[in-house]
Amino acid sequence: MTEPEEATPAFGRARSGERNSSFHHSYIVCTAVSLLFMPIIAILVPILYSHWSSLLPYAHLSLQRAKLGTVLNNPASFPEPPYVLFSSRVVLPDRFIQPAYIFINNQGSIAIVQQSPSWSLVWKTIVDVSPHVVMPGLIDPHVHVNEPGRTSWEGFEYASRAAAAGGTTTILDMPLNNIPSTLNHKTLAQKINALASTKSYVDIGIIGGITMPHVPFLTELLDGGVLAFKSFMVDSQSKDFPNVSKKNLKEIIGALDRLSSEPGAVSKPIPYILHAELDLGPDEEDERNRRASDYNHRCYSDYEASRPSSWEVEAIRYAADIANNSNVHIHIAHVSAFEALELLREIRWGNRLKKAIVTAETCPHYLMWAKEKIALGGTLFKCSPPIRSDDNRKLIVHQAFQDDASSRAIDLIASDHSPCPPELKTTDGNLTEAWGGISGLQYRLQATWTAAHAMNASLSRVAELLCEVPARLFGIDNMKGFLKAGLDADIVIWDPESSQVLTEDKCHHRHKLSPYHGLKVRGIVLRTLLRGRSIYNSQGTSMHERVQFDARLGKLLFRSSKTGLSRSIAPDEWKSAITRK
Ligand SMILES: *[C@@H]1O[C@H](CO)[C@@H](O)[C@H](O)[C@H]1NC(C)=O
Ligand SMILES: *[C@@H]1O[C@H](CO)[C@@H](O)[C@H](O)[C@H]1NC(C)=O
Ligand SMILES: *[C@@H]1O[C@H](CO)[C@@H](O)[C@H](O)[C@H]1NC(C)=O
Ligand SMILES: *[C@@H]1O[C@H](CO)[C@@H](O)[C@H](O)[C@H]1NC(C)=O
Ligand SMILES: [Zn+2]
Repeated sequence: MTEPEEATPAFGRARSGERNSSFHHSYIVCTAVSLLFMPIIAILVPILYSHWSSLLPYAHLSLQRAKLGTVLNNPASFPEPPYVLFSSRVVLPDRFIQPAYIFINNQGSIAIVQQSPSWSLVWKTIVDVSPHVVMPGLIDPHVHVNEPGRTSWEGFEYASRAAAAGGTTTILDMPLNNIPSTLNHKTLAQKINALASTKSYVDIGIIGGITMPHVPFLTELLDGGVLAFKSFMVDSQSKDFPNVSKKNLKEIIGALDRLSSEPGAVSKPIPYILHAELDLGPDEEDERNRRASDYNHRCYSDYEASRPSSWEVEAIRYAADIANNSNVHIHIAHVSAFEALELLREIRWGNRLKKAIVTAETCPHYLMWAKEKIALGGTLFKCSPPIRSDDNRKLIVHQAFQDDASSRAIDLIASDHSPCPPELKTTDGNLTEAWGGISGLQYRLQATWTAAHAMNASLSRVAELLCEVPARLFGIDNMKGFLKAGLDADIVIWDPESSQVLTEDKCHHRHKLSPYHGLKVRGIVLRTLLRGRSIYNSQGTSMHERVQFDARLGKLLFRSSKTGLSRSIAPDEWKSAITRK
């Protein structure tokens, strides 16, 4: 039999003095030992915890997350920063697509990007948008907003709303089609005033125009914070934006070179965008154009033949030749001809440039359509340079999405959104009379992804073309274009697997005429965030619910002429931002 004393637990009734003292003894030892171990345990547990979770297969992460913070799945209303955005598919720099937690701070900046949950996320709101893709907000460096002067054509309000609906968080506004064109300090001030009073949903960078004899205005535009310059080498359709001649181009490139060689000048030259077509007359060899009487004003192929690819090739050859030995950055806008890309490839990869940098963009419409398939009177497709053959289209698509980076000539894809009122497109199908410009700002991600997917290209390549390279080339990669700590939390959340037929009723452009309507595309934009705040939400039942009308928080991107670094300011801070006298 067991004696009663022995069955009594040590911390039970104490019967004898001896037992009592041994109890006290072990109690003290236990307490001392645990006190000793407590700091070690306090250090070890979180370490084990976070490492443990990184060892777990992905399926377990949601469990870990639920323990760590308040998880909002499919939130009807999005939180204001600070919060943590999580997805199983985040497009990170250096071509990584991984699960990641993005901590967005009070200022709407990305504070931390981490692959696994940790104690730093405790008590934070975690918005889980898995399995949708989280990508940097798109940067569209070629948009004709048309304000001031032609707000009835588009304007900051409609353009920036359409941008938001398409996942775009920054647009660069072209200096022409607005009246007056943005050519000097005075007209730049008019542009900024218009932006300040209209207000934008997304951030706006301004491009200054260079026409002749306007070289003296280069400095005042630079001091005004423009992100780039632009000239036309062929008629621009805008009366107050005459094209430059070959001789002018030499002078301008010379002036830009001198500016960048001044003592204390910014070492990275500002991009000089060229509409690169030289009017050489119609292609002699084209059968259809031998006699003017054969020309059909409603036939797209005839329109295309009137601006042959040789116009692009000769313009690029000329510009590269005169820029060759200067410290300038020439950016070729909207390349549509494969021959032009071949020349760019040869110039760049054949090391044919002594000092200059030459980069190039193409547009979604050159990836989507071919002249043979455009019906008679297809004025919605009129743009310059024109949409070319299907063989040409296939080669451009291949160039844009192929894996071999060392032979690419396309750096980025821009919309060249150039809308107009309907009456300028409904010209009885007469392509000669119709306005040249395609309305497509809202559809840039979907069109690009549709073409990319058909080529088995990765989401990372899409982010390069639409976000990363535009940020880098236009000098705003210190703020935008990548999901990494320190940059603005400008983000698009989208579903790349679903498809959608594009329709007028979901179109946010001021005028609904667009060749994209009726087209089935891949990818749906679910939500767009500017500095962490939701500015577009696909789940709203009306246009007003989808775009957050109270969220016109877009800023002006201002490039310092002294440092070459850009920053974002409120449009009405523009005057005080100009420092150099
Ligand atoms: C415009 O460019 C064309 C070549 O595309 C050239 O022939 C013409 O002289 C230029 N116009 C002006 C005003 O320089
Ligand atoms: C630049 O100049 C070099 C040396 O004169 C020449 O070989 C090269 O072809 C030129 N490049 C272009 C694009 O004209
Ligand atoms: C189309 O417009 C051009 C330019 O205004 C004009 O010369 C031509 O006669 C028109 N053609 C037709 C078929 O309407
Ligand atoms: C894309 O991948 C699919 C499936 O692997 C393949 O059948 C198709 O040929 C690929 N397309 C291209 C353009 O590489
Ligand atoms: Zn344009």
